[in-house]
Amino acid sequence: MVRLIIAVTAALFLLPAAAGAAPQIPLERANNDVSNIPSLQRGARYYVNFCLGCHSAQYVRYNRVARDLQLSEDQLVNNLMFTGERPFDTMTIAMPAEDSANWFGKVPPDLSLMSRARGTDYLYTFLRSFYVDENGNSNNKVLPMTSMPNVLWELQGLQRAVYSNGDGEFERFESIRPGSMSAEEFDRAVRDLVNFLDYIGEPIQLERRRLGIKVIAFLLVFMLFAWLLKREIWKDVK
Ligand code: HEC
Repeated sequence: MVRLIIAVTAALFLLPAAAGAAPQIPLERANNDVSNIPSLQRGARYYVNFCLGCHSAQYVRYNRVARDLQLSEDQLVNNLMFTGERPFDTMTIAMPAEDSANWFGKVPPDLSLMSRARGTDYLYTFLRSFYVDENGNSNNKVLPMTSMPNVLWELQGLQRAVYSNGDGEFERFESIRPGSMSAEEFDRAVRDLVNFLDYIGEPIQLERRRLGIKVIAFLLVFMLFAWLLKREIWKDVK
């Protein structure tokens, strides 16, 4: 019996490690806060500007985002919607999957539930781990040889240079552009973005937690009465 318990416990601990492909480097903590509305607003803006070109968030409706992020309809349309969608539309993209498969070798996954699939620490580390490898190509330390380009290169302050040789033109990312975001500002931008991805992974999570506290409080009070009642009923039974 003891052995069985040990085996089952060990399996429970080992399973998650075996299930997900272990990233190559230790993950850093995202430390995001889904109750921070200004951070979510900035994150939403980064998302539509830098990610929505390739990644849909097909389970998320624009007007739901506006409501939760305390944006008016005007603010929503002016800041987050650029291609003539309607506020009740979901965040889909126009790029056909076949084309993106041709261009990138892979279809960019929908990001609605990505924070729950990979975890916020993974996203935070992944988005900050793009680097220029020795061949001058964009590469990633968390997902080596990923087909996703370093879309945040501008925020990160990388400079893009286009060279040409006999085979045609190719581009390189190099050096840090003076006057770009500082490393701390870039980390904050990524944290905001991850915060938004965390929020869309479960828009109701804040309400769920608030409700959870009330439910537990109710159960505690109810327990007191149940206990008093039990004592009353059983007091004559010796
Ligand atoms: C130019 C198109 C493009 C843009 C823009 C883009 N991505 Fe990607 N993304 C991809 C592709 C292609 C993949 C699949 C990569 C792979 O599996 O190698 C991917 C994969 C991902 C993954 C999954 C990584 C994994 O572990 O499988 C995440 C998370 C992600 N992108 C987040 C983002 C975020 C956040 C943004 C905005 C800052 C963004 N992407 C912008 C093309 C893009």
